[in-house]
Amino acid sequence: MSKKIAISTGGGDAPGLNAVIRAVTLTAHNVYGWETVGLRNGFDGVMAGEPPILLSLERVRDIVSRGGTILGAANRGNPFQRPLQQPDGSFVHVDESDRVVEHMQKEGIEAIILAGGDGTMAIAQMLYEKGVPVVGVPKTIDNDLGGTDRTFGFDTALNIVTEALDRLHTTAESHHRVMFLEVMGRHAGWIALHAGVAGDADVILVPEIPFTIEAVCEKVRQVRASGRLHSLIVVAEGAAPAGGTQQFYIDSVDGQEGRLGGIAQLVSQQITRCLDVETRVTVLGHIQRGGTPTNIDRWLGTRFGANVVHLVKEEKWGYMVGLRGDEIVHLPIAEAIAELKRIEPQGEPVRTARGLGISFGDES
Ligand code: F6P
Repeated sequence: MSKKIAISTGGGDAPGLNAVIRAVTLTAHNVYGWETVGLRNGFDGVMAGEPPILLSLERVRDIVSRGGTILGAANRGNPFQRPLQQPDGSFVHVDESDRVVEHMQKEGIEAIILAGGDGTMAIAQMLYEKGVPVVGVPKTIDNDLGGTDRTFGFDTALNIVTEALDRLHTTAESHHRVMFLEVMGRHAGWIALHAGVAGDADVILVPEIPFTIEAVCEKVRQVRASGRLHSLIVVAEGAAPAGGTQQFYIDSVDGQEGRLGGIAQLVSQQITRCLDVETRVTVLGHIQRGGTPTNIDRWLGTRFGANVVHLVKEEKWGYMVGLRGDEIVHLPIAEAIAELKRIEPQGEPVRTARGLGISFGDES
């Protein structure tokens, strides 16, 4: 029997989202004979009553190689907590999730596929508990969502960060400098760790392991004493010193998360106080999230997109797809959002990748 299903791309975008949209549309149309529509701008669009766009086979042609999402993403997308400004300028949050149900009824949508990270998946779970037929696709460049070994967007980010490190390497070497690279990673340091190891960084600072300036200085000193007169230091934006706090350049406003940034600059200033070295700081920011997805991210997005349509067919509401090893699995969204996937430090403090079975003999 024909069905009309919708896909929505919530939260921050990630390279590979268009591969998901294409695979959902092709599978729904070619395997089940269903119609697919796209909700524009995540739940912001739903709240604004924006009509969905028809995802025909023509519409999803030629999109797999494009970064971002052709549907647009939301900036204030939680329908359970819409910020409402009061006459005095303050904000209260109101539950407007009934409008999601009304929108579905009005548009004749029978199921929603939500692609998102932990925030969007938490919304998916709440919608499911409200009785909305919803399934999920995990997405975040940070790779920190539980229930899946990998999310698409992560590989693209890793390639961009690794290339940046390679470029910083040669100029660091020429000038005998300590080069800092600040990368994304609010709660988890997967991007910093994977790219840092592949890019030959001497120090990697991640949110999971509070650092001390003394330890960073000591490491740089050792590297220089060993004859290498330059260093690369990768800093995840969410890293914080022991006993200190994360660094924000814009604080949280009306329930929105604050904007992280500035920790690499701070550490670099402190390093120049303890060592007589030249430092420079590069902040990669959203360059890590934009642009062409790698083959790995297109492939994963395609597998997720095709498989999530089977979840709709089975009416496994409240479930999402995930990757375990090389297998696509189905699991309850509640399981995936129970705990963020973070690096598990072994030892105290860890400055090598020991916990991952990588050790170069230097355990300092
Ligand atoms: O997707 C997660 C993430 O990349 C974080 O690492 C980062 O802090 C955040 O998105 C920034 O997103 P935005 O600027 O879109 O709010």
